[in-house]
Amino acid sequence: MADHAILKYDGKELQLPVITGSENEKAIDITTLRDQTGLITMDSGYKNTGSCTSSITYLDGEAGVLRYRGYAIEDLASKAQFLEVAYMIIYGRLPTEKEYTTFKNKIKRHSIIHEDMKHFFNGFPSSGHPMSILSSMVCALSAYYPDCISADPNDDLHITRLLSKIRTIVAFGYKKSIGHPLIYPRNDLSYCANFMHMMFAVPSEPYEPDPEVVKAVNTLLILHADHEQNCSTSTVRLVGSSNANMYAAISAGILALWGPLHGGANQAVIEMLQAIHKSGGDYKGFMEKVKDKNSNARLMGFGHRVYKNYDPRAKVLKDMADKLLPHLKVKDPLLDIAKRLEEIALEDPYFVERNLYPNVDFYSGIVYRAIGIPVNMFTVMFALGRLPGWIGQWREMMMDPSRKIGRPRQIYTGEVARPFVALADR
Ligand code: ACO
Repeated sequence: MADHAILKYDGKELQLPVITGSENEKAIDITTLRDQTGLITMDSGYKNTGSCTSSITYLDGEAGVLRYRGYAIEDLASKAQFLEVAYMIIYGRLPTEKEYTTFKNKIKRHSIIHEDMKHFFNGFPSSGHPMSILSSMVCALSAYYPDCISADPNDDLHITRLLSKIRTIVAFGYKKSIGHPLIYPRNDLSYCANFMHMMFAVPSEPYEPDPEVVKAVNTLLILHADHEQNCSTSTVRLVGSSNANMYAAISAGILALWGPLHGGANQAVIEMLQAIHKSGGDYKGFMEKVKDKNSNARLMGFGHRVYKNYDPRAKVLKDMADKLLPHLKVKDPLLDIAKRLEEIALEDPYFVERNLYPNVDFYSGIVYRAIGIPVNMFTVMFALGRLPGWIGQWREMMMDPSRKIGRPRQIYTGEVARPFVALADR
């Protein structure tokens, strides 16, 4: 296979190197294109643009394959602990038993937040969206730990701090929003069980999280842990590339995730299913609306920029919904509607021709609902899971000696140079 591509332009012939990844993916390196020809490349939405090389996540959207550091998502989802996956994503390999114990102990030690930070929760309106609160609080951590501004990405202090505190921030935000007293972490519990405890325990009653629910949360977080250069991860890298601190970069990533075309889709899916249910369950009518180009309706939780086959995470989640809901004795009519929609979509030429399949957000909301997570917190759960990916991608970029500040170009289409005319003369 050729190691370069040839570009002919304006009578000149230019050789551009071809880069090959470990799974044989290929890219034309256009770094010198502008210097040699005056041309830039144009790719709205970065549909075909590689922004970096990375050894964290491999995904083959055509084949429906997703691997973190070479391990299949299906294996990790069924056999691994979220924190060992987090360690592997961030540091490059699975931890030994000793390394894992040290890592977990560090995370335990950081589980509380500065008492003064609790005042922020009083300042937010109870109707404030949990994603805006989460992003603000994560950014506020940089004010409490100002040494992060010049921190070495090799130093895991801020990394373990954020991995731990994010759970407490999320749970405190929830408790405040419903007017309940804050529940402090219990470090004898696992990462996921501790989170459930802070979310759902009340001071007057004993609380032991259901092990099946803890297992489901562990799996959900693993499924979300990384997804290479998606919108929020690219945001984290772009903000981080200016040497802004890790909390600032991840706070920006949280905001990018919030949008309904990205992580916010899990909330949008449930709202869509609820609307169909409320209007008498006319899912067929809804599907006609989705296909009608004059309506703005989309089948939320379907379609993906990269997957052109079934999202492997959606398979795991559908299975999980089928097992967990009966265990919790939950009969959710929205699950039935979701399955009917999927059945139609998998047969209908509109969806088949466009390669539209369920994505990770299609079934995750049904599971979150069953375990008592409020709808407006679904995207926050996604952020909890994605945190190791954001940290790992940020760290990988910061440790790359050839790193450059992210700064795309544009083609200007506005007015050409013209004289300014003073207000009185216009
Ligand atoms: N419902 C109906 N039609 C759709 C859908 C959908 N969910 N998704 C794409 N299409 C159609 C588009 O209308 C377009 O049709 P056209 O070619 O006739 O104009 C075609 O499929 C291609 O769609 P694009 O929007 O160009 O695809 P893109 O790759 O830019 O968008 C996206 C991907 C944003 C995920 C899109 O599929 C979508 O909006 N899905 C619903 C929102 C969603 O579930 N987002 C979560 C994604 S997963 C994640 O971020 C965690």
